[in-house]
Amino acid sequence: MPWNTSLSSALWLILTVATNPSWAAEALHRREFFFVGGEYVNTTAGTVRQNQMYVEKLSPAAATTQPYPLILVHGGGQDGTNWLNKPDGGTGWASWFLDNGYEVYIVDEPARGRSAWNALGGFPTSTFSVETISSRFTAARNSSVWPQAELHTQWPGSGLPGDPIFDTYYASVVQGTANGTEHERAMRAAGSALLDRVGPAVVLTHSQGGPYGWALADARPALVRALVQIEPKGPPFREAVFSSDYTRPWGLTSIPLAYDPPAANGTAAPLEMMPVNATSANLTDCILQAEPARQLPNLKSVPVLVETGEASYHAPYDHCTVSFLRQAGVQVEHLELGQAGIHGNGHMQFLEMNSDDIVAKLHSWIVKTVTS
Ligand SMILES: *[C@@H]1O[C@H](CO)[C@@H](O)[C@H](O)[C@H]1NC(C)=O
Ligand SMILES: *[C@@H]1O[C@H](CO)[C@@H](O)[C@H](O)[C@H]1NC(C)=O
Ligand SMILES: *[C@@H]1O[C@H](CO)[C@@H](O)[C@H](O)[C@H]1NC(C)=O
Ligand SMILES: *[C@@H]1O[C@H](CO)[C@@H](O)[C@H](O)[C@H]1NC(C)=O
Ligand SMILES: *[C@@H]1O[C@H](CO)[C@@H](O)[C@H](O)[C@H]1NC(C)=O
Ligand SMILES: *[C@@H]1O[C@H](CO)[C@@H](O)[C@H](O)[C@H]1NC(C)=O
Repeated sequence: MPWNTSLSSALWLILTVATNPSWAAEALHRREFFFVGGEYVNTTAGTVRQNQMYVEKLSPAAATTQPYPLILVHGGGQDGTNWLNKPDGGTGWASWFLDNGYEVYIVDEPARGRSAWNALGGFPTSTFSVETISSRFTAARNSSVWPQAELHTQWPGSGLPGDPIFDTYYASVVQGTANGTEHERAMRAAGSALLDRVGPAVVLTHSQGGPYGWALADARPALVRALVQIEPKGPPFREAVFSSDYTRPWGLTSIPLAYDPPAANGTAAPLEMMPVNATSANLTDCILQAEPARQLPNLKSVPVLVETGEASYHAPYDHCTVSFLRQAGVQVEHLELGQAGIHGNGHMQFLEMNSDDIVAKLHSWIVKTVTS
């Protein structure tokens, strides 16, 4: 390389690192990637593979000191970039975990991100608009749709298009399989294949990833050492806040879970439901199981943490998911960030300003849980 080129490259690198804190702050690590799961299907253009899942394994450059690796599962409209550096240039959760001695597996769920979508027969996809993302996730403060929204202070910038942090984040939003049932099915298969390959692990999910967390704990209870569910898609049986559609006939999921006694598989309503009124004006009513509630025997051996941001649209209803789990015999703790002194978080809390405070709480719970 001529001296002037290498000199300008070096200057460029120095300037870039100096002006972009995320470059300097990300944890040193080793990286490999692989794909798990999926199947060959015949199409009009020949045989293609579908439903395989991209997995990126990051290992600390220094020693791995945690007993179990972490598997990070993103939510709807997202992919594995959620866990890397933040859109405001700050350090993301993957680096935080690497700095604390975890091996980290980051997935792009089947048919999105780097996991190929089969254009010749794959299920139709959909995406989240700017209006959906800003009103629910990034600029929720002025929303009057749920009462806790006015507490939202932690998203950096206005949360609206034109703001560079919003624009950086929104550019990362991807399309995904629109049929939730089919996506749950594909994720249970690919996630089980990942656990079979990795061995015992702590699974951490966000939002739409929540139903996959329940399904994986049900399918591979011996391999899910603990389950951290950040605002898991809910509440039981139906949607809340934005609609009340009946979408999860198996309570936590739309695909079958192993209940004891077995639920009425193959019917439209496999579980008997019971409405329960809310105890406070800011909380939604719940639908739980009629008593005596069927139990979730596979999930009983898996410690669960459900975590909810103070200002999120999950704040009104995650209590229903926790009540449902307790009724079904699952050991669950509910970490409500506001009550733990962490204020102002919305749904995309791992990209928000105080994300390090949150991840430190999750780490404490994981350490306490897997070593007890
Ligand atoms: C694809 O078609 C070929 C030939 O028609 C058949 O042998 C093969 O089993 C099919 N594969 C799948 C995955 O259906
Ligand atoms: C919320 O409303 C206030 C007052 O109208 C306005 O100044 C602010 O920009 C709005 N914030 C967002 C994120 O929309
Ligand atoms: C409901 O939430 C709002 C906004 O945080 C708060 O001002 C109000 O005190 C809450 N009401 C109850 C009954 O908790
Ligand atoms: C979603 O996929 C399932 C098969 O996995 C199918 O039974 C169902 O009809 C589909 N729903 C819609 C709305 O297409
Ligand atoms: C429900 O029925 C389907 C189709 O027969 C079967 O594949 C699945 O294993 C059953 N699941 C449970 C939990 O009963
Ligand atoms: C629940 O609330 C509804 C009205 O919102 C009321 O009709 C019903 O009696 C309440 N149920 C219980 C068990 O309190």
